[in-house]
Amino acid sequence: NKGEEFSYPAHFVPDIIREKDIFLREQFPRNFAWGAATAAYQIEGAYNEDGKGPSFWDTFANNGGLAFQQTGNVACDSYHQYKRDVQMLVELGVSHYRFSISWSRVLPNGRAESLNQLGVDYYNNLINELRANNIVPMATLYHWDLPQALDDIGGWENETIIDYFNDYARICFEQFGDRVPLWLTFNEAYVVTWLGYGIGIFPPNEHKAERGVYNVAHNIVRSHVKVYHLYDKQFRQHYHGRVGITLDCDWKEPATTGAMDRYAAERALQFKLGWFANPIYGNGDYPAEMKHSVAKKSRDQGLSKSRLPEFTEEEKKMNKGANDFFGLNHYTTQYIRDNYDNRNNYEGDQNLYTKVDDCWPGSTAGWLKVNPWGLRGLLRWIRDRYNNPPLFVTENGVGDDGTLHDQSRIDYYTKYTNEMLKAIKWDGCNVVGYMAWSLMDNLEWTSGYTVKFGLYNVNFTDPARTRTPKDSARWYSNLVRTNGYN
Ligand code: NOJ
Repeated sequence: NKGEEFSYPAHFVPDIIREKDIFLREQFPRNFAWGAATAAYQIEGAYNEDGKGPSFWDTFANNGGLAFQQTGNVACDSYHQYKRDVQMLVELGVSHYRFSISWSRVLPNGRAESLNQLGVDYYNNLINELRANNIVPMATLYHWDLPQALDDIGGWENETIIDYFNDYARICFEQFGDRVPLWLTFNEAYVVTWLGYGIGIFPPNEHKAERGVYNVAHNIVRSHVKVYHLYDKQFRQHYHGRVGITLDCDWKEPATTGAMDRYAAERALQFKLGWFANPIYGNGDYPAEMKHSVAKKSRDQGLSKSRLPEFTEEEKKMNKGANDFFGLNHYTTQYIRDNYDNRNNYEGDQNLYTKVDDCWPGSTAGWLKVNPWGLRGLLRWIRDRYNNPPLFVTENGVGDDGTLHDQSRIDYYTKYTNEMLKAIKWDGCNVVGYMAWSLMDNLEWTSGYTVKFGLYNVNFTDPARTRTPKDSARWYSNLVRTNGYN
């Protein structure tokens, strides 16, 4: 069966590395979308105001789950300061704003019957303020803040979530769809799955056997696909919007040119990005590598069937093409070496020996090493695997201590956007927009307020949460204005 075979692709990228020190002085395409991104839990605060219900991040934070017992209870106070936020976008001169909708602000117990009009009003006000300032809203439906009431019934493990998510999405399309043309169903499906239910360092802090993790991912893919078709059938004819999903991936560079390391790097990309991208942007099914590997290991363990769930033929048809654009979050690279000792145990990341080159500059986010050309490698990989879909970089950026004179952030953005420009101009990658992470310093999940990604500094000791532009904000507004490098 040809379709089930997989090859050992050579995606080692000598030309990218050869060209890494060339600085490309050209313009981005006309109408390229420049924006900045945030997420509800990281900025809004007002965690129990005006009828909002708790999400499992509220529960986790208020039980001491974050660094220094910090919480998102107030965060950047954007619930009260959205007009200032929009003003910052105006100062930057960007055309787009990517924000997320808090499910439990709109539906306090996660279910349609609990509709909270004050929560709807907040997003209407934000969206109207954006439109009044000519900024295009790009809304994420799920940026990790699951209503606690739905976690209580099993969260993403329980397949009834698919219908709850669909109801929530319908309500958002009904309430906001006339003014929001760009929708993302999920932010970072891999992180939701693996950090929440695999290694379990994020809520719900469940460490599942891998079958459980695969089921979570399965429910997420099916939730996305259902909502895509909901929009396509019922809303598109009125609103003409576009629906995608944001997937995260680091670049995985083979540690050597050897075939086994190249194959290990390819497998790493397939197990991380392909897990979600192959069903939605590829052939409608999980990657062949993944199906093969998991089935083999399941057999070795004496199981009668693979622990990776299967899509029905009907589902595969629905999955395939269930997107209007690709959303990509990208920050860093790892070198990958085949795990010789454990070659048959390849699932999740367990199959890999990961080696990060220490000569790459680090950041205050321990996991983030600066390697600009990794973005170009990844954009080309997506081009080749998924037929060059229109792609928004929905996040890219670097963490530091929040200093106003953030030359290292300017360097990061300069080099990463220049690699993106090479991908567009030299490689023909269909990149249509770029959102900087983040508009402002905010709650960096379990790191609390210790790692700052903002173009604007936020003073978290000041009750007014004063925002001040960093040097990088001025630099970014200049890039946006000139639309490239002269
Ligand atoms: C990915 C997430 O989507 C965002 O919420 C987070 O703050 C950034 N990366 C930085 O870690």
